[in-house]
Amino acid sequence: MKIDVLLGLQWGDEGKGKVVDVLTPRYDVVARFQGGPNAGHTLEFEGHKYVLRSIPSGIFQHGQINIIGNGVVLDPVLFREEAESLEKSGVNIKGILKISKKAHLIMPTHRLLDAAYEKLKGDAKIGTTGKGIGPTYTDKISRNGLRVGDIFDNFAAKYATAKQRHVNLLTALGEGSDVDELERKWMDAIEYMKGYDIIDSEFVVNRLLNEGKSVLCEGAQGSLLDVDFGSYPFVTSSNTICAGACSGLGVAPNKIGEVFGIFKAYCTRVGSGPFPTELFDETGAKIRAIGHEYGAVTGRERRCGWLDLVALRYTIMLNGVTQLIMMKSDVLDDFDTIKVCNEYRVNGEATKDFPFSVEANIEPVYTEMEGWKTDMTGITSEAEFPVAFKNYIAYIERELGVPVTIVSVGPDRAQTIVR
Ligand code: GDP
Ligand code: IMO
Ligand code: MG
Repeated sequence: MKIDVLLGLQWGDEGKGKVVDVLTPRYDVVARFQGGPNAGHTLEFEGHKYVLRSIPSGIFQHGQINIIGNGVVLDPVLFREEAESLEKSGVNIKGILKISKKAHLIMPTHRLLDAAYEKLKGDAKIGTTGKGIGPTYTDKISRNGLRVGDIFDNFAAKYATAKQRHVNLLTALGEGSDVDELERKWMDAIEYMKGYDIIDSEFVVNRLLNEGKSVLCEGAQGSLLDVDFGSYPFVTSSNTICAGACSGLGVAPNKIGEVFGIFKAYCTRVGSGPFPTELFDETGAKIRAIGHEYGAVTGRERRCGWLDLVALRYTIMLNGVTQLIMMKSDVLDDFDTIKVCNEYRVNGEATKDFPFSVEANIEPVYTEMEGWKTDMTGITSEAEFPVAFKNYIAYIERELGVPVTIVSVGPDRAQTIVR
């Protein structure tokens, strides 16, 4: 079998959690391949709302195997909180959740380093989620990291060495390094993790594929936050694009099947960095209010703006997207006019390419479309789509050359239309 990948095409928070949950019944396995608790994936069904950070969004369906892959960075304390809260809600995760031995551990001092590096950047700060993501991936790449599989063997000494490095760095930066309180919780959480199935996930995933099992990979963040192709340095520290699923799970590129690219009917971004179609006026405020655009993890206000097809064309290219999924269409239900950016003027010159420099002076060129002015939240079939909304989808499909196969009209699992 092939492995399908679902990933965000914008700056994150596209609604990945909701759609992974909706698609899970089609699959035997759901796996996360990168990122960590910087993610906040929201699911709503049967009157309940859940926010997942490290645990895949396939956990609520019918006993599918859920895997935290080697490309993920895991904070044991946050993992434990998340797992215990799911168990309290009656979700039996112990039997179905598996963790890669090769996933890297976020240490308490990684969080201090994250804060210290942000402080050092001053006004140029990235606006990270503060979860220690950057420093943990830095340690991975610089070959200083601790992995989940390390917890079974001489762990106290390995931890002490890694921590001392961090303390030295923090001292050099003039920062304190008191983590005693958090460290106790962290060590307890390490013991708690030992109650889970900790596996060689690359072998498990490939064996399952060879047995004919189907696997869905759940991306975190979005392609415009990819460390190579996003608006660097205002990015996260992992490869959020499709290629990240290969390295983050140990599957070969020729095993990739469908690539679901998910986007909102408009754009949002949290944290710093360029956002060409950002709206600073009451239209932006209206999108934020109707779309409840506040971070699922940090509660921060999300910046809002019109849909950007230049950005989407770029991320469709990077990921080899085969199907598009449009989310939060209902948020635009009450606009007379809707704008879509189809081209940029960069320093006065027209282009359809995403520019290299984050300092480029980008002026979006818009196409105006008629709003549909209809409440779509109760719609259950494509036949009920208002004409102006059909035109909006048709325009997007024509410009991007990829079909929109799923449309979301509300946060609930049921508010999903498969075309
Ligand atoms: P993720 O990180 O990509 O999983 O997305 P988030 O959970 O951070 O943000 C998406 C937010 O939009 C969540 O609060 C969802 O409950 C909500 N949401 C998802 N789909 C829709 C939709 O079609 N309409 C509306 N109004 N909200 C949605
Ligand atoms: P999900 O999976 C939106 C952003 C942060 C910051 C930058 C770097 O819910 O879509 P980091 O803590 O990763 O070093 O922060 O990336 N960011 C996200 N924005 N959704 C996310 O995840 C994000 N994860 C990180 O706001 O700008
Ligand atoms: Mg999110």
